[in-house]
Amino acid sequence: MTAQSVTVRVPAKVNVQLAVAGPRPDGFHNLANVFLAVSLYDRVTATPADELRVTCSGPDADQVPLDTSNLAARAALALAERYGRDARVHLHIDKDIPVAGGMAGGSADGAGALLACDALWGTGASRDELLGICAELGSDVPFGLLGGVALGLGRGERLTPLEAGGTFHWVFGLADGGLSTPAVYAECDRLRAEAGTDPGPEQPSASAVLLDALRVGDAGALAGAVANDLQEAAVSLRPSLAETLSAGSAAGALAAMVSGSGPTTAFLAKSAEEAERVAAALRASGTCRAVRVACGPVPGATVVG
Ligand code: C5P
Repeated sequence: MTAQSVTVRVPAKVNVQLAVAGPRPDGFHNLANVFLAVSLYDRVTATPADELRVTCSGPDADQVPLDTSNLAARAALALAERYGRDARVHLHIDKDIPVAGGMAGGSADGAGALLACDALWGTGASRDELLGICAELGSDVPFGLLGGVALGLGRGERLTPLEAGGTFHWVFGLADGGLSTPAVYAECDRLRAEAGTDPGPEQPSASAVLLDALRVGDAGALAGAVANDLQEAAVSLRPSLAETLSAGSAAGALAAMVSGSGPTTAFLAKSAEEAERVAAALRASGTCRAVRVACGPVPGATVVG
């Protein structure tokens, strides 16, 4: 019997290291991108329909495009084309990941829709084939499928899974409105040109200290090693983020950073209890729109129904 609908749960990510090289001829930047999947999830449900349709629910649903610029729609179209199917599917996104927030929410929906359509249509695609389609959809999409902790080289799409020796506790400060990822990369290039900063090697590498901290599950050591080359650019475009970062540090977070290209801010805490305490202080500071607590690493896109 064919399934009537398939639901996939897919996590957000935080980048614990985001080392950015200079721009490539194709406009992308080579990265050493250490992704960590955290327990904020979107759910994507694929149901057979007369035509491709995307709907969205959740607090930020009005900011989500419902046309073929949505990565969920593009994932369904890419899979259908590859396996000779009709992309006649209704994709419903139940959205909890901040929109345009630097937590790969759109990419998560791409990975989730791909896995949901794959299960619905029974294509028999291998994991590697699915990861290949993800890489064509966007630099962060393969990680949505993989989850856990991984190093992404190239655009961030060439993934190597990494070991994590424990669970890390996070607090996220959600900001009003999003930041455009290309605009943040462009601002990073501009700031470096203005300051005469060398963008470093053509292909950055992962920090050995950071990988060790992840392997042994040492939050204190991880806090000392986290680094995001896009942070200065995100703060330059959204100066109020500096206040949010200071409020999180003052609240006792082990590390305070911008998540990916922002404007979400990420705070590492010693324990689940500490994360709740930092979250309460951050809420009281009035420096962000909303505050969320999450932990990770968690698994990537998973069929849940
Ligand atoms: O791959 P994705 O479509 O998510 O990238 C969105 C934009 O972010 C790109 O068009 C590019 O401007 C920027 N980007 C980049 N280098 C990367 C990833 C993204 O410059 N490694």
